Formats: sequence, C-alpha cells, structure tokens
Amino acid sequence: MILKDKVAIVTGGTRGIGFAVVKGFLDNGAKVALLGSRQETVDSALSKLGEANPNYSVLGFCPDLLCTAAVEEMVRSVVNQWGRVDILVNNAGISDAKPFYDYDEAHFDHVMDVNVKAVYNCTHAVAGLMKEQGGGVILNTSSMVSLYAQASGSAYPVSKFAINGLTKALARELGKDGIRVNAVAPGITATDMVAALDQSIIQRMSAGIPLRRLGTAEDVANAFLYLASDMASYVTGEVLSVDGGFVG
Ligand SMILES: NC(=O)c1ccc[n+]([C@@H]2O[C@H](COP(=O)([O-])OP(=O)(O)OC[C@H]3O[C@@H](n4cnc5c(N)ncnc54)[C@H](OP(=O)(O)O)[C@@H]3O)[C@@H](O)[C@H]2O)c1
Repeated sequence: MILKDKVAIVTGGTRGIGFAVVKGFLDNGAKVALLGSRQETVDSALSKLGEANPNYSVLGFCPDLLCTAAVEEMVRSVVNQWGRVDILVNNAGISDAKPFYDYDEAHFDHVMDVNVKAVYNCTHAVAGLMKEQGGGVILNTSSMVSLYAQASGSAYPVSKFAINGLTKALARELGKDGIRVNAVAPGITATDMVAALDQSIIQRMSAGIPLRRLGTAEDVANAFLYLASDMASYVTGEVLSVDGGFVG
C-alpha cells in the first residue's frame, strides 16, 4: 500500500501501460482518475476495474488533452471529488512508423501535439496546485527511442527526446516546491501500440534485447509505482529505462 490515499491522474489509462499503471496504483491504495481519448474506452476500462475490485476508488474522464480549458476542468473535477492531486502520469501517446519522405506538416504536428503538447497542458494544469499543496509527483512516459531514435517515424523519437527535456527542465525548476519530475523509458512493450507496428520492425528491435523477451505493461507499471512513491523521495530529473537491457 505504498500509495495509500494518494490522488493520481493517469492519461492514456484505458489500455496498455497506462491501464497497468492505474491498476498498480489502485492496488497500492491510491485514488485514480483514468483518462482516455473517448467515453467508450474509458467506460470499458472502468468496467474491467470494477470487475477486478468493486472497492477501487476510480473515476474516468476523456477531456481533449489539447484543450487547456477541458484539461483544467478535469483537474477541477478530481479536486472537487478528492480534494487534491498528488501524482500526474502523462502516459497517453501515439507511435509512428511513417517514412520521412511521406511526411507532411500536419502529420508531424499531430505526433508532437499528442506526445508533447498534451503533456505540457496536463502538467501546467496541476503544477500550481501541487505547489500550493506543498509538493507532488509528475511522471512522463518517454521511450527507449529517446536514447536511440528509430529508422522511421522520426516525429516519435523527436517527441520523446522532448519529453526527456521537459522532465529534466521541470525537475530543476519545480524541485524547490517539493515537486519531483521523472520519466520512464519503456523498451518494446507488448501493448496495442506494438501490435500495430510492422512485424519486421518488432523483430529487428527484439533481436537486441539481452533479456530476450518483450516487456509487459506490468514490468513498466512497476517503475511508475516506485517513482510515484516515497521510496523515490530523493529521485528527480531521471529517465528510468525499463527495456530488458536494450543497448541500441
Ligand atoms: N508499447 C511500447 O512498446 C512503448 C514503448 C515505449 C514507449 N511507449 C509509450 O507508452 C505510452 C503508452 O503506450 P501503450 O503502448 O500503452 O499504448 P496503447 O496501448 O496504444 O494505449 C495508448 C493510450 O493512450 C491514449 N491515447 C492515445 N491517443 C490519445 C489522444 N489523442 N488523446 C488522449 N488519449 C490518447 C489511448 O486512449 P484510448 O484507449 O481512448 O484510445 C490509450 O489509453 C505512450 O506514451 C507510448 O509512446 C510505449
């Protein structure tokens, strides 16, 4: 119960890594607002959680993460319900495999909007509140491509390099207010996002994993659990790789 009575918001909490984070946080005593892109996916996640444990304290929202007013309204709803926000997990994201020659500006902007601008919006919506509360934890989902890039879909590594930059910048700026900011950089993790990638890309990447298996969403969620908890009370500005030892 290392997050007993903590209040958390998890974007991209409906599926994959985010859902495992939500479940891990709930199992450790947190109250969690899970976010998805639409009501249908949020309802489906809430129903799975209700079946797993009807006593979970969990709410669902689907604000447009690119609309500051909608994000701020979601944060107000969480505060009205539970009085505070202790942890924000910026996990929602989209991958990309498009060859650079096929790129247009709208495609580049879309990846950057979902993977970076939305993170800024959510973080900005809770940072002042966390400062008033005397502290908080902000966690971002980066990727191993933030270290090694990838051979197509260039906006994706660009967006994750940006996430590492935001993580380190805000760790330095917000530390004095008791706010810790860290990122988790998953390797290839068996979720819908990976299932959507070309098999040849998965095979090429898998060949370099020392632990000889893809990660599970739970492998990654455990890192979030640690970083969200007081066990990581002196850890900030870190990008923690959870990638089976992948070395590029
Ligand atoms: N899987 C991997 O191998 C891997 C590796 C490194 C990093 N990551 C990162 O881990 C995070 C989660 O990945 P995943 O593999 O768990 O993905 P996933 O299974 O595809 O789930 C993506 C999540 O993000 C939400 N989402 C997507 N677009 C959104 C939007 N425009 N607005 C709001 N929410 C949106 C989805 O909500 P809906 O269910 O409503 O669509 C879903 O909850 C991402 O940031 C990804 O870049 C993944």
